[in-house]
Amino acid sequence: MSSTFDVAVAKSRTIGRPRGPTGISVVALTGEKKGALVSHEGQGLTGLESPAFAHSCTVGTRNCPSFVSRGFESSAKDAGSGSGHCISSSSSSSMTRRRSACEMRIATLFLLVLCSGYLSAIQAQLSPTFYAATCPNLERIARQWFSIGVLNALTAPAAILRLSFHDCSVNGCDASVLLNAGRGNTDEKASSLNLGISNLQVIDGIKTAVERQCPGVVSCADLLVLAARDAVSLSGGPRMTVQLGRRDGTTASTSAADSQLLPPTASVDRVLSTFSQMGLTPMETVALLGSHTMGVGHCDSIKNRLYPQLDTTLSQNPFFAQNLKRQCPASFSNPNTVVANDITNIVFDNQYFRDVQGRRGLFSIDDAIRTDARTSGFVRQFAVNRQLFFSTFQTAYNKMAAHRVLTGTQGQIRKNCRSIN
Ligand code: HEM
Repeated sequence: MSSTFDVAVAKSRTIGRPRGPTGISVVALTGEKKGALVSHEGQGLTGLESPAFAHSCTVGTRNCPSFVSRGFESSAKDAGSGSGHCISSSSSSSMTRRRSACEMRIATLFLLVLCSGYLSAIQAQLSPTFYAATCPNLERIARQWFSIGVLNALTAPAAILRLSFHDCSVNGCDASVLLNAGRGNTDEKASSLNLGISNLQVIDGIKTAVERQCPGVVSCADLLVLAARDAVSLSGGPRMTVQLGRRDGTTASTSAADSQLLPPTASVDRVLSTFSQMGLTPMETVALLGSHTMGVGHCDSIKNRLYPQLDTTLSQNPFFAQNLKRQCPASFSNPNTVVANDITNIVFDNQYFRDVQGRRGLFSIDDAIRTDARTSGFVRQFAVNRQLFFSTFQTAYNKMAAHRVLTGTQGQIRKNCRSIN
């Protein structure tokens, strides 16, 4: 059996020279579990059944319209608590004051109900079957052309999964990362935090094939999510059901990427707060970071851990540290030299968490989640429970991929993913 050292050395390589046989096995692998769908569809109407509304409508068995017209009594005891009941009449001025207070509360309730219905309706526009009528073969075409892309570029699965994360991180999942500079836009890919972003041609290939069958229908933002989904399943990860119906943005900005993408040295605080803005729990955030089970990192992204001296964790693991230093010497001879993210970096599995636990996480953030009290328990759980990792990852990915999406008539459906129409 190879030692960690042997395996890690074997996986160190330089971009542009992928090794054939290992890459082919990426395509041969299949996911084992079907994912639970995280669907927001249909939630648009549930506002009418929200606890606040149901409560106000059922008190005293009155139906809602007459309840609204007859006012709403609220005693000092329960004022502000949301409880109360309807009264039949009032003549005193205090009654009149109470009555108008009641009417205010009812109006507020209606506004809340309307707002929750409106927000849910936006979410409801994303659906796994969004293109069922307009592009029925979409998923088959996308998967077929993604597989062809992988055969031409074995680094594609990891690259596309990261690309999808970087798209969603900068002003939402709107395919802005694919846009080239021009027509008032600057290039997000030019940000130093997009170091190593690659394989965009795979999305171009899928887009061309999809446009042939369903012209002007499917957004680049959705194609990126579908490709990321296929990247995960073709590498042995969960077969996820993803939401569709995003539209493409018309703006892109290098400085937005500079300020919104996370550096490898980001603190656990910053990472948790960034993902909580996308609706992710700490457990889901740790699962999403499990994406580092795939792919590589440039020496530049880990030099802070090696020089001028080893960080605390690496100094406790001299064998691993020595190996990293050998691959990434103090003055890198080739800036494209990369190191494997985990020791099975072409497979989507839970090895990343075992590596992190064994103090072999690659980036500072990978090591930080091992020791932070808010995340360390999940690292331990995922290290021993692959199924838990897979199911949490699916939920997490779908939440991230719904972040600030454009829907309905917003944005556009680009004809070419690299430029606005
Ligand atoms: C939470 C904070 C995160 C940080 C700080 C971070 C940082 C990084 C860095 C520095 C690299 C290496 C870039 C290079 O040197 O080439 C990388 C690679 C990668 N990241 Fe992350 N990442 C984070 C979260 C994520 C998430 C949420 C995903 C996916 C959903 C992801 C997927 C990947 C993948 C697949 C790679 C390998 C890319 C390749 O081989 O081309 N990362 N990440």
